[in-house]
Amino acid sequence: MTMSYNWFKVGLWVLGLFEIWVFIYVLEHIFSRRVKNQYPPVSCRSGHIRALIREIRTHYPNAKVGVDIGAGVGRLARAVSRGTGMYIYGIENMPVSICVARILNFLTGATRVRMIYADAFEYLANYDGRFDIGIAYLGPGMNYMLGPIMSKFRVVITLDVEIPGLTPTRIIDAGGGYTRYHGVGKYPHRLFVYENAGC
Ligand SMILES: C[S@@+](CC[C@H](N)C(=O)[O-])C[C@H]1O[C@@H](n2cnc3c(N)ncnc32)[C@H](O)[C@@H]1O
Repeated sequence: MTMSYNWFKVGLWVLGLFEIWVFIYVLEHIFSRRVKNQYPPVSCRSGHIRALIREIRTHYPNAKVGVDIGAGVGRLARAVSRGTGMYIYGIENMPVSICVARILNFLTGATRVRMIYADAFEYLANYDGRFDIGIAYLGPGMNYMLGPIMSKFRVVITLDVEIPGLTPTRIIDAGGGYTRYHGVGKYPHRLFVYENAGC
């Protein structure tokens, strides 16, 4: 009797903590969208990930270090690191997402993914060096911010949305339909690849 009562109490605690986490996560989504005016930490689709890994393996097999610019909970960063063997830095400016990403990295043994809590554009503008590949899944209306940091990468690959004012080296159809961006419309699942665009 006492034993099952104790388990019941543990269950209630776990449920309570889970509810608090969901509440904070929802608040972060609202804060991200309404206050920061950026797309919330929503992970990209499996089709994007498959197409991205195929693209990197085919055209950039020697790439060693990449950055996920706006990494959310790190799904894309972990998948690309696993699929290509690259070391990936995931930069994210939302605290709960960074925290969840670090826990998931630990639980999945993603030792080649490192999360950085920072504004990605500020961090990269001040970074003195060049990465092999930058990946950005930021949503419509955000990619203009990539312009000033293009020189920090040999290759930049954006998901769904082009970088205004730049001509992509390749456009890849990632299949699987489109992403519906709330209030903005539907964008086909595509990758836009920019080689040496900041030089
Ligand atoms: C659509 S999500 C993509 C998440 C991740 N790349 C994936 O596909 O799994 C976009 C992410 O970019 C982050 N973000 C937007 N602007 C940012 C900035 N200036 N610095 C860091 N992260 C940013 C958002 O908080 C969000 O988590």
